[in-house]
Amino acid sequence: MRLNFVTTASLVVLAIVALSFWWSPILWTLLLVLPLVGLGVFDVYQSPRAIRRNFPIWGRLRYVMEDLRPKIYQYFVESDTDGKPFSRIHRNVIYQRAKRQMDTVPFGTQLDVYENNYEWLNHSIKALSMKTIDTDPRVLVGGPDCKQPYSASVYNISAMSYGSLSKNAIMAFNEGALLGNFAHNTGEGSISDHHLRGGDLIWQIGTGYFGCRYPDGTFNPDAFREKAILPTVKMIEIKLSQGAKPGHGGMLPGSKVSEEIARIRLVEVGKNVDSPSYHSAFTTPLEFVAFIKKLRELSDGKPIGFKLCIGHKSEFVAICKAMVQTKIYPDFITVDGGEGGTGAAPLEFSNHVGMPLRNALAFVYDALTGFDLKRHIKIIASGKVTNGFDLVKNFALGADMCNSARGMMIAIGCIQALECNKNTCPTGVATQNPKLVRGLVVEDKKKRVANFHNETVKSASELLAAAGLKHPSDIHRVYIQRRISPDKVLTYLDSYPYIPNGSLLQEPYAKQFETIMAISSAESFTPNFDNLDWDNLAWARKPLSN
Ligand SMILES: Cc1cc2nc3c(=O)[nH]c(=O)nc-3n(C[C@H](O)[C@H](O)[C@H](O)COP(=O)(O)O)c2cc1C
Repeated sequence: MRLNFVTTASLVVLAIVALSFWWSPILWTLLLVLPLVGLGVFDVYQSPRAIRRNFPIWGRLRYVMEDLRPKIYQYFVESDTDGKPFSRIHRNVIYQRAKRQMDTVPFGTQLDVYENNYEWLNHSIKALSMKTIDTDPRVLVGGPDCKQPYSASVYNISAMSYGSLSKNAIMAFNEGALLGNFAHNTGEGSISDHHLRGGDLIWQIGTGYFGCRYPDGTFNPDAFREKAILPTVKMIEIKLSQGAKPGHGGMLPGSKVSEEIARIRLVEVGKNVDSPSYHSAFTTPLEFVAFIKKLRELSDGKPIGFKLCIGHKSEFVAICKAMVQTKIYPDFITVDGGEGGTGAAPLEFSNHVGMPLRNALAFVYDALTGFDLKRHIKIIASGKVTNGFDLVKNFALGADMCNSARGMMIAIGCIQALECNKNTCPTGVATQNPKLVRGLVVEDKKKRVANFHNETVKSASELLAAAGLKHPSDIHRVYIQRRISPDKVLTYLDSYPYIPNGSLLQEPYAKQFETIMAISSAESFTPNFDNLDWDNLAWARKPLSN
């Protein structure tokens, strides 16, 4: 192919020169041809890219095609039911609700109702009248030690930092939250001026303690208190992990640490900032609950909760044991499914680390009821909750409320271009490029966030009414059916049977908790296998260890 290029390029140049003796204006074409020849020569002699070396100039089309592929796929190839992570029908209903357009569908479902994983809700002959239902059910978050409980919507904006999102996106979210009377989670990047537009905030604190840290990155109680007592901060969330990259820290490169970011996060301008993969403020479950108590005191009694994606079940049970032992309870726990999104994560972490939401939520609910802790703690679920049915099925598994990150992004115009990690987001949602950010008009988009929230909660309330239920807390796992083979259907109750309230406070424990109870303790996150009955567990012992 290189030979072809050399021959063709030489022939074209010679032909142009020859023809110029008869018709001299043809020499102008050299303005186009010579740079192309130069490009081809460069391709031939460069070494990093084999395709360009072997196919000068033409090889470059590969990159153009790769760039266009997702767009061509999305606009011309994708059917209504495919498209990932969110299918077109899911995205469309968000756009329609955000714009308050017609959100009904004609001619029946497009889903294959005999396919595995198809799910449906049991409706009732005694459905409730839509006129009598509350289309904005609220949940009071705040356990026994909370002095400023928060009356929350059942659907709120999930954690996304200023930095991963643009300032206009943050403002649209916050003003939308104000308009629709729901809450906006700051993400771990702390509270920026763009968050202070009047909407209720859930302030998230991650391992980098941004906005409440000493220069060495450890937790600074005075800086914490300063922000925690702001009236707009309604709840505080300690982030242990998130579904898209649990156990993975992060590093904000110095090039991105502008003066504004440095001021917001309490870091140094232009210097790399580390987000470790673990917290430095506590190392054991007992220290963790003591930290919760400390934050509650420093914030004058605001609701304190934590967010995690479940990894080892025993670690969560260890936290429950610490709660029982100390009688210190978080006011809420956010369970993030492994299917959760992020601005940027390693593929392996996104695809293969962390428990998916359904399993994690049922487990967390069961552990909390097992230890008789649920009555103090509200559960928030996140992981692809974008429509009324998503809300209802999470309520059925045990959630009191749900959060949405990507659903809310789509509501303000995200087209799932999958460029959050490139600073090129064409809709101005997940970029810091001012030319792209200006395309997102806060005044318009704030209404869309509020509309999307209100219509989605209304849809969930209508579904509950169709099932004869008044409030999300009334639903039971038996209401949701799931096909697991062409002729077999299980309810959520069959898949995730409840365990009796308080049953983990004394033996015998429910079978699925026996081993977890034996290996977990309030003193350590690390499981202790010494207490296991190894005579009966010979099959579980690793034969050799190095
Ligand atoms: C752009 C972006 C930024 C995020 N930043 C954070 C963050 O700072 N802290 C956090 O706990 N989760 C973060 N998340 C995860 C979301 O809060 C949420 O847990 C996850 O995406 C699941 O919700 P979803 O399926 O509705 O998107 C981020 C997600 C996205 C898409």
